[in-house]
Order: sequence, then C-alpha cells, then structure tokens
Amino acid sequence: MKRPFHKDIIDIFKSNENTVLQHLLAVAEKCRRESIGNEVYPRGLIEFSNNCSSNCLYCGLRKNNHLLLRYNLNREEIVALARTAYELGLQSIALQSGEIASEARVDFLVDIIKRIKDLGSQDANQSIGITLSVGELSYQQYMKLWEAGAHRYLLRMESSDPILFRAIHPPSQSYHRRLECLDALKDIGFQVGTGVMIGLPGQNYEHLAMDLLFFQERDIDMLGMGPYIPHPDTPLARVKADTISDPYNTTIKMMAIARLLMPDINMVASTALQSMHADGLIMGLKAGANVVMPVLTPEKYRPNYALYANKAYKPLAQLQTEIQEAGYELALWKWGDSAHYHRRRGIA
Ligand code: 5AD
Ligand code: SF4
Repeated sequence: MKRPFHKDIIDIFKSNENTVLQHLLAVAEKCRRESIGNEVYPRGLIEFSNNCSSNCLYCGLRKNNHLLLRYNLNREEIVALARTAYELGLQSIALQSGEIASEARVDFLVDIIKRIKDLGSQDANQSIGITLSVGELSYQQYMKLWEAGAHRYLLRMESSDPILFRAIHPPSQSYHRRLECLDALKDIGFQVGTGVMIGLPGQNYEHLAMDLLFFQERDIDMLGMGPYIPHPDTPLARVKADTISDPYNTTIKMMAIARLLMPDINMVASTALQSMHADGLIMGLKAGANVVMPVLTPEKYRPNYALYANKAYKPLAQLQTEIQEAGYELALWKWGDSAHYHRRRGIA
C-alpha cells in the first residue's frame, strides 16, 4: 500500500467501516513484520515518585491536586526493584515520576542510575538499559543523566498543536520549551521518545494528522500514544470532549498509521490504551506496538500514581501469555533499542 497522506489519514479517522480498520491493521502488521519482526520489548516501569511541581490540566498528579497522597521511593527501594526486573529478564527499565527540576533530584537520579548500571555484569551488553521519563529539565541536567548511563528519554508533546498545547497546560509551561527539551535530548545522544494523548477536549482529526507528521519530521526514535482518560480531580475533566467520538479506536488507527510512516521506531502499547479496553494490549500490538511496560511499582503506591481514572495493571506473566497468543514474542534478556535510533546514528 502506498503511504497515507494527510487527507487519507483524516478519511481513515472518520471512517466507521470495520473493513477500513481491518485493512489498516493488516498493512501495519505486514510493515511491522518486515521492518522489526515480531519481538515485543519489555521495560520494567518504576513510578518512583508522584510529586510534581507542574499543573497540567489533564493529569491527576498535578501539583494542585491536594486529594492525592504523595510518595517517594528511596534509593534502596528503586535499586531493589531494578534488581527484581533484571532477575525476571527485563533488561530495560523505565524510571518515571512527576516533574521536579531541582539539582537535588537530578543528583539523586544520577546516583540511582549509576547503581543500577552496576547491577548487570561488568560487560556493557549485559547491563540494564535505562529509560527516563521525568519531564522538562535543563540541557546540563539532561547531560548529567546521560553521563550517568541513562540512554533513552520519553517526553510527550501531548499535542503538536501550539494552541491546543496551551489550552491543556498552565501558562508556566510553554510549547517552545518542550521543543527545546526534545532538541536537547537528541543533541546529547538519547534515544528520544515523544507522543500525544488522543481524544482531548478541543482536539480534532486534523490535529492528529498533524501530530503524525510532526513525529515524522522530528525523526523520533520512540512513540507513546494513548487515549485521554479524564481524571475527576482535574480541571480538564469538567470540559467536554466530543469531536473525537471514539478515542480508543482512533488511538489504534493512529498507531497503525504511525507504524506505516515510521517503520523502525519503537512504539509502546500504552497503559492508557490497556486501561480503556480489555483488548487494548492485543489491539495495540496488532497496530504495530513493539514495547510494553510491565509495572514494577509496589502495589501499595500504585493507586497514588493516578495520572487518570481506573488505570489498569497487568502482571508480567499475563502480558507474556497475551503477547504469545497474539503471535508475538516477549523479548527477555535484551535491551530492545529503537532500530530507528541506530539507523539514524549510522550504528550497525
Ligand atoms: N489521560 C491519559 N493520559 C494521561 N497522561 C497524563 N494524564 C493523562 C490522562 N488524564 C499521560 C501524559 C503524560 C504521561 C505521563 O501520562 O501523556 O505525558
Ligand atoms: Fe506533572 Fe507530568 Fe502530570 Fe504534567 S503530566 S502534571 S508534568 S506528572
């Protein structure tokens, strides 16, 4: 199939025909098998703190949500979770938290990253791959984290449209600053991931088509997209979202088109997608996802990492079974880097 263009993309979003969705999934699947095969890379997700200095209008962790009980895992707890991941064969982990841009937080992370890198054998290929998702920091701070040994970074754009971005963020957060952060991460050498939410109030199919072109133009290595799920204790939950009538299926379509446009990137089957529907994981895989993030955060803290309502958690064993039954393979004992990153950097 020829690659879809702007108008084709909008037509696909608007279509309610099951045959259109099935055809899209079939071509995305073919593209995925040819470019990256059937492996699915796990990242053990450690949500180490829900403190956040930011106030995104959609997110349950926002600073002004005083109903949320805040927590911080300590160094020993985080390193112990990384060790558990390693023992399970999850050779990559993701450290995620709300946004705290202090030097003390960065130094804390540097220490933890170094300790986690020491957990694997001395052979660099056997160490643990580390993805960070801790928000907007300065160039120097990102550099410190890179030098400590982190090598992938996720920073979602949330929307590539500056007006929509402004509508869902407080005035202190700027679209241009977010772009600068993505540029800094790329310049330093990180594998860079971004993404958007789908079904936001004020968002339309045109925005989503532009998001896809934005990812392509910025030559991203990793992509994470999920449906927007209102959190009752946030301002955005009071705003009706009705233009995108079916965020779940629209996310699946977005993912399939993203796979066609960017055949060798890493793309996650997001927790938000899995939280919306019992088939979210399988549909995400069928749409071209090749990354899953089994949650390692201790159970007692999980309800407090409430980005949105009714977040779903699937144990590793269940993820593995579902992945296998859908015809894919959970790739243990591998870093599972983005093939796109290696191609872009000219690494064999
Ligand atoms: N619905 C879906 N995803 C959300 N996120 C935050 N709040 C929500 C929500 N209400 C996502 C954002 C953010 C990531 C950490 O979680 O995309 O980048
Ligand atoms: Fe904080 Fe991130 Fe939530 Fe924004 S999306 S409030 S930065 S945790």
